[in-house]
Amino acid sequence: MTTTEPFRNVVLLPQTNQLLGLYTIIRDRLTKRPDFIFYSDRIIRLLVEEGLNHLPVAPLTVSTETNQVFQGVSFLGKICGVSIIRAGESMEQGLRDCCRSVRIGKILIQRDEETAKPKLFYEKLPDDIANRYVFLLDPMLATGGSAIMATDVLLNRGVKEERIFFLNLICSKEGIDAYHSAYPNVKIVTGAIDKGLDEKKYLIPGLGDFGDRYYAL
Ligand code: URA
Repeated sequence: MTTTEPFRNVVLLPQTNQLLGLYTIIRDRLTKRPDFIFYSDRIIRLLVEEGLNHLPVAPLTVSTETNQVFQGVSFLGKICGVSIIRAGESMEQGLRDCCRSVRIGKILIQRDEETAKPKLFYEKLPDDIANRYVFLLDPMLATGGSAIMATDVLLNRGVKEERIFFLNLICSKEGIDAYHSAYPNVKIVTGAIDKGLDEKKYLIPGLGDFGDRYYAL
């Protein structure tokens, strides 16, 4: 785990050559959809595993097949995923691969064409979400508008900021600042921090529209 400076509460995956290789493939405009999906899924899996590292554990002692005692830990607390439709849904399987039968809620936020601001259209969340750790799933943190609105929804349902982990593949610095100005205590778990946004609010260098590339319009 690398905690980034100057960002507080941003957990950046270790920038290994392997991770850089995965990002190189998904950022390449020539990469075809099956490879885009395969390599994005590998990164998503790493993000989920890193998120899980931050959950609390309690000591647990077990006996092994060799009649030895092993002092380990057991996971405490229930988790759930909440994906921001549509691109966030691409991250659900990675969470399911690590946490069998995990509950997954969904939030739909879209741009209101009249105001050009994000608008909440739909939410479906586990009833007991306030008692869970929440992995908020959205692959790209650009301006932060949707993620802030989604986090509002979670807080209104009683989830504490400290129990939310926002998992994404690429962040912009602006997005981190905007998101953390609203919710400083949510941990952002990411694999890359890009240098900025273009005039259409796409991340640069980025990878284009994640949802279009993953789901092929
Ligand atoms: N969403 C995307 O899919 N890509 C960006 O660059 C920004 C937001």
